[in-house]
Amino acid sequence: MLYVIKFSVCLIFRHIRQPVANRRINRRISTKSFILCYSVKQIAMKNFEFYNPVRILFGKGSISKINKYLPAGVPVLFMYGGGSIKKNGVYDQVLKTLKDTEFYEFSGVQPNPVYEQLMPALDIIREKNIGFILAVGGGSVIDGAKFVAAAACYKGNDPWEILSKQVRVEKALPIGAVLTLPATGSEMNGNSVITRASVNHKLSFGTSKVMPEFSVLDPEVTYSLPKNQIANGVIDAFIHVLEQYLTYPSNAEIQDRFAESILLVLKDTGSKVYADPEPNYDDRANFMWAATNALNTSISMGVISDWSTHAIGHELTALYGLDHAVSLAIVLPGVMYYLREKRQEKLAQFGEHIWGITSHDPQVAIAETIKNTEQFFRCLGVKTKLSEYGIGPEAIDKVVKQLGSHGATVLGGAGDVTIDDVPAILGTRI
Ligand code: NZQ
Ligand code: ZN
Repeated sequence: MLYVIKFSVCLIFRHIRQPVANRRINRRISTKSFILCYSVKQIAMKNFEFYNPVRILFGKGSISKINKYLPAGVPVLFMYGGGSIKKNGVYDQVLKTLKDTEFYEFSGVQPNPVYEQLMPALDIIREKNIGFILAVGGGSVIDGAKFVAAAACYKGNDPWEILSKQVRVEKALPIGAVLTLPATGSEMNGNSVITRASVNHKLSFGTSKVMPEFSVLDPEVTYSLPKNQIANGVIDAFIHVLEQYLTYPSNAEIQDRFAESILLVLKDTGSKVYADPEPNYDDRANFMWAATNALNTSISMGVISDWSTHAIGHELTALYGLDHAVSLAIVLPGVMYYLREKRQEKLAQFGEHIWGITSHDPQVAIAETIKNTEQFFRCLGVKTKLSEYGIGPEAIDKVVKQLGSHGATVLGGAGDVTIDDVPAILGTRI
């Protein structure tokens, strides 16, 4: 149920319903913000169903447990990426656990996995009667495995329709995952993002049918990550939380506090993981579990989620090949600035609880919040302006055209960003 709260009602309602920390913010909100408050959306926590059946095998040495959870007598497709797992010992650990299992390999899954490169996996699945897929890698390999799992059972002409027409997935092969890069949360959700290179479309689908039966999270496998991938992981997970948290108040206290705890771990421990010359197990463990929780859907229950930053970011990746997290670090400050009035309450809460911003002037507080967020990304070595990647203002029209070409007119779930807002958002990001 959506309430548009007016003036005096707004004050009383907030005072009764909001926790003490938020009341402090509200007391500081000035006359100007009272006026803005007129149009602030406030909703009650929405009804929800939470379903997450993914078994997590967490901790060092957990890859060895995989054979316990594989279906007996079923040939397995072992999918992985460009070979990092052969350098860091993960490949050998997987071979060990598969020693009594009939399995076939499918390697070379690219970052931002590509439909054309994944489709040949279907031939192996048919020929070898594969009944289970084991994905070993980052989000790209896991997403690739999810698509292949759904495509193998697809009854229509072209499995691309699962993404382009959002055809419902009725059935998929079961999958398991070994996560090597904490970032996407793909190891504990039902989402998959696939690029069709021939048309430059990067699209997603989501269904519980492709949620992994199990995912192994061994923090030690992250020791081989290069710094830029650690930064990508921290930023991607941080922005996943913001897509679900930084919208409108929903009186969802558990979700808010949980979201804030994940943000704090990513800010503090994530920065430490990035800066430390030698890996520290506990820090890696906390980073890994934070990234998984950032997108296993628990913090999105009952609240208004957005995802407009991702929608715009995916187009930048499809057009210019930017890393997923890099595209988000560019777009997010633009979205925050563009929606600074509509989303002022959650922006102020985020600013105080994460960055410790206590300015009495809400406009100053929000400006500081956006600045701190962007600075955080830059401290992780990620540039946040398009021009810093050699991309000019022409990108704006291209992104709009791309979004239009696959019918994306309303972006995200908060209803406050449309394709018409993209020029203003990206206009501040050149
Ligand atoms: O391919 P290999 O050789 O394995 O190397 C990878 C790749 O080059 C390397 N890497 C991974 N683990 C490593 C490692 N290198 C050394 N040591 C390790 N332990 O890192 C590179 C990037 O890997 P990738 O899987 O592409 O990164 P990430 O996990 O960030 O995944 C990005 C993809 O996930 C999608 C993105 O759009 C993008 O396509 N997303 C998926 C989501 C989901 N399923 O819920 C949500 C996200 O918002 C996101 O959209
Ligand atoms: Zn993401």
